[in-house]
Amino acid sequence: MASSTTVTVPQAAERYPILIAAGLLAELPLRLQEWIPSASRVLVVTDTHVAEHYATMVTRLFQETPYSFSIKVLPIGESHKTLASLEMLYNKAIETGLKRNDAIVAIGGGVVGDITGFFASTYLRGVSWIQVPTTLLAQVDSSVGGKVAVNHGNLKNIIGAFYHPKGVLIDTDTLKTISARDFACGMAEVVKYSLIEKSIHVNVGSLREPLPLETMILRCCQLKAAVVEADAEERQGIREILNLGHTFAHAYEALSKGEIPHGEAVSIGLVKAFQLAINLAQISGDSVNEVIAMLESHHLPTGSPIAFSADHMLEAMRHDKKIVDADTFRLVLPFHCLGKVRVQTNISAEQIRSVL
Ligand SMILES: NC(=O)c1ccc[n+]([C@@H]2O[C@H](COP(=O)([O-])OP(=O)(O)OC[C@H]3O[C@@H](n4cnc5c(N)ncnc54)[C@H](O)[C@@H]3O)[C@@H](O)[C@H]2O)c1
Ligand SMILES: [Zn+2]
Repeated sequence: MASSTTVTVPQAAERYPILIAAGLLAELPLRLQEWIPSASRVLVVTDTHVAEHYATMVTRLFQETPYSFSIKVLPIGESHKTLASLEMLYNKAIETGLKRNDAIVAIGGGVVGDITGFFASTYLRGVSWIQVPTTLLAQVDSSVGGKVAVNHGNLKNIIGAFYHPKGVLIDTDTLKTISARDFACGMAEVVKYSLIEKSIHVNVGSLREPLPLETMILRCCQLKAAVVEADAEERQGIREILNLGHTFAHAYEALSKGEIPHGEAVSIGLVKAFQLAINLAQISGDSVNEVIAMLESHHLPTGSPIAFSADHMLEAMRHDKKIVDADTFRLVLPFHCLGKVRVQTNISAEQIRSVL
């Protein structure tokens, strides 16, 4: 039996299901029929790694249906989350005669999901789409919330939209083929949820205990759905709490030129956020040890493997959207007890420097 949760987005008056279970990929044609009944053509978008494992199976699945099926395999990685990849998708859609009533399906990690969602939002002013996230990070984070985007130049996610899929199909079996490093990166976001869970006014049970994979993913999706529901387009400062550790993380990612992947950067950023909150005397000193133990149990780094100067870090952090002015930063920080956070707008460069 698939577990499921539903995201409600009041502004867009949209709800969509997120199904979570092992083996769900085999149900893709069935779910497509249910979620996008108008479609007669389907364009699947994936990347080279994911295609190696799943393209044959997915192609076979659709051969047994009346759908007119095509697949576009994109090059791998963040460096291809670009307008050039989008252009390949527009060309493929035109070549295959994809119409507004047809369907687009993203099968892959966050990169494929983000590019494909933006493609779906703009092609013919919007074609319905389904997400099949295949990394842990995509399953617990990027596939929930409707943010879709590509990078441009050095700027991450600078061209994008809010465009929700008609449904999300999470097949936990697909995690069997991701690397241990990618799995750990997803766990960094799970630990993050466990450190904000008491600030979200929906009690789905704690993430700070070992859980079966499906339950863990379900709870993360429910927590993110609750936050998104409260602040769908990130205008009310509620969705911002999902950024715990992320202002530090984005600086580590940028300064390492991607050598420190997002999840590892988040792991280090979480530790920095706790150290800063301890310096500000707003959480107990031993809380950071608990956080470090959690991250280490998932083989995540708790300090940067590359040394960056405090000046470079501060400069990179200034480029983050969360800055107030050149010397004052807006950060999400732990507050009061493990699991609670708040947005703080008055953090000085000197206070940040104390933990770098
Ligand atoms: N939209 C959002 O709200 C949101 C949230 C968080 C992150 N993101 C974005 O997500 C991206 C990172 O996502 P990611 O960590 O999934 O990276 P990714 O998509 O690059 O996937 C990581 C690697 O795993 C491979 N892969 C994916 N699924 C596989 C499978 N089942 N078996 C084997 N290999 C597989 C990919 O080919 C890739 O090489 C970033 O671009 C980030 O900006 C978006
Ligand atoms: Zn993140």
